[in-house]
Amino acid sequence: MNKIQIHDKYFEILLENDTISKRTRLIGIQLNVDFDGRCPIFIGVLNGSFLFMADLLKEVAISCEVEFIRVASYEGTNSSGKIQETFGLSTSLKDRDVIIVEDIVDTGLTLAHILAKIHEQKPASVNVCSLLYKPAALKNPIAELTYVGFEIPNEFVVGYGLDYNGLGRNLKDIYRVV
Ligand code: IMP
Repeated sequence: MNKIQIHDKYFEILLENDTISKRTRLIGIQLNVDFDGRCPIFIGVLNGSFLFMADLLKEVAISCEVEFIRVASYEGTNSSGKIQETFGLSTSLKDRDVIIVEDIVDTGLTLAHILAKIHEQKPASVNVCSLLYKPAALKNPIAELTYVGFEIPNEFVVGYGLDYNGLGRNLKDIYRVV
């Protein structure tokens, strides 16, 4: 199934599941080395990270904790035009090694909001692990973006957790709009 239709748009394969799995395994190995003996807390950002988080954590062999958060954005009157709120952060992050797991860093605005909230709690370290990253779309540099699966062009993508108007999250490959 190389070309698919979701709503009004057509998509073609960008990254096959096998390619994603191999890269995820390598990131897991790197995390095992970098956080050996430190018991980090992984925080997945819902909904988009659910598949990547599950596959990544299967490759993580060190002792760790796992949490999920959700960010809701709605139109408002602040500078970016959107107000964002974070839900689900119940564990204290003070003096912890935090690893935020994202599906994609596009403009980076969502991540900047999450990072600001997390830094308020004075963790020992904060790193971001994102499966996808669109460098051309990024608005401001993100110093914490340490682990990136794939840098991709500034195109809309769907699958493996990412949706187009609610559909496509369950696709095992990642597709780009044609
Ligand atoms: P931001 O622009 O970096 O703030 O991206 C915020 C969120 O928008 C991401 O976590 C995704 O859930 C979603 N998003 C950004 N780019 C895409 C895309 O190409 N396809 C599907 N969702 C996307």
